Amino acid sequence: MTDSSWAYPFSRSTDEHVDLSSQDAFNQGAPFATFERMRREDPVAWCTEDEGRGFWSITRHQDIVRLNRDRNTLSSAQGIRIEDQSPEEYEARKTFQETDPPEHTHFRMLVNDAFSRKSVGRFEERIREITAELIDRSIQMVDIDATYEIARQLPMRMLAQIIGIPEADTSWLVDNGDALISNADPDYTDFVVDKVDTEEYRLLPFRSPAAVELFDYANGLLKRIRAGEDVGVLNLVMQPTREGKVMSDGEFRNFFCLLVAAGNDTTRFSIAASIHALANQPELLESLRGASTEQLVTAADEMIRWASPTTHFRRTATRDFDYAGKQVRKGDKVVLWFLSGNRDETAIDSPYEIKLDRKPNPFISFGQGGPHVCLGMYLARLEVRIVLEELARRVARVEQVADHSYLRSNFILGIKRLPVRLTAR
Ligand code: HEM
Repeated sequence: MTDSSWAYPFSRSTDEHVDLSSQDAFNQGAPFATFERMRREDPVAWCTEDEGRGFWSITRHQDIVRLNRDRNTLSSAQGIRIEDQSPEEYEARKTFQETDPPEHTHFRMLVNDAFSRKSVGRFEERIREITAELIDRSIQMVDIDATYEIARQLPMRMLAQIIGIPEADTSWLVDNGDALISNADPDYTDFVVDKVDTEEYRLLPFRSPAAVELFDYANGLLKRIRAGEDVGVLNLVMQPTREGKVMSDGEFRNFFCLLVAAGNDTTRFSIAASIHALANQPELLESLRGASTEQLVTAADEMIRWASPTTHFRRTATRDFDYAGKQVRKGDKVVLWFLSGNRDETAIDSPYEIKLDRKPNPFISFGQGGPHVCLGMYLARLEVRIVLEELARRVARVEQVADHSYLRSNFILGIKRLPVRLTAR
């Protein structure tokens, strides 16, 4: 691995043969050295689990892209995380993300327009206002936890606006979103999924009791929509498709929980990773000053490659097949490590370096190329771009003033505490 010194704070520096099935696998940063060995020596590797039936790990960029496209061979319809689910659990917790075409395509058509580049582009000025407010306040506070004060606030406040949720409810929503998706970190939930008995909640999204309140909230939104209120894009989502299909109440509730989970910490951790990078490589901040919109778009993509906040998604083999000399059996779990693909030197030149002008950038943080490519991709890119732009405009220096720490999760990679000082320009 190329040692570009400061990059190690974002990763483990030695190959400790990390158990990728463990929720502790990423809590000292990403095990890039382990992935590097796997890409080199065993790119389609069988990994055992303490509690589970084992899974294939796909770690090379080209294999991830190829297999992610092959919707006939690899299905999302038996779960998308490493954990095993019973058919009953799967049915109760399923969202459209856990379905395959054509079922998936029908549903996706219901929501696509609401999150298109054009639709989210309408929020650019509001994103800028919120970002400017958060940065200016952080400058006043001198020493801050940038994840908490900036990165954690913006994505949910924006999502709340877009889906028509009152500003006053956002912090409640962020807390519940955290409890859902950060279900392995005791800082965010009392029901740590691999530590306490969550059997009672096994039919809820993420086995989390937070989903009960979120379901109630979603029911309230449904009432508002039916009463003719403007609930932002959620009104669009409840419109019939061209074929006349309308989302059911259950689908709506699960979709709402998915948005609150997916829209919450992925963008947060991309922003946190960006601020961490700007603190440790000040020349990056300099290079952003006066950059054109096009240059900022390119820079944001590179930061999202660097951050790779969703480490993997899982599929299940629909048939026996041979791949790279391995025999994958029908029903086997196959894990696509997007994070590893983003550091694959055969696809990405000098992948441990941040090149804000990287072009082309074949990064796969959003699952690009697959049928489930991220719905919130344009929104996330826009937010990260504006954060970079406003930091460059308002901040002279970002200094890291104490050690940072990582979320406990093998699904989401993120700096959950980032003590920094921002100095005004
Ligand atoms: C940098 C930020 C983000 C990253 C890295 C990210 C990553 C991903 C990835 C890798 C997938 C593909 C899953 C698969 O292949 O099974 C995905 C799907 C999805 N994302 Fe994101 N996401 C981000 C932001 C967002 C935001 C802001 C939202 C909500 C507004 C969102 C909502 C979704 C939804 C609903 C899906 C499921 C799409 C489908 O199954 O068709 N994401 N995301």
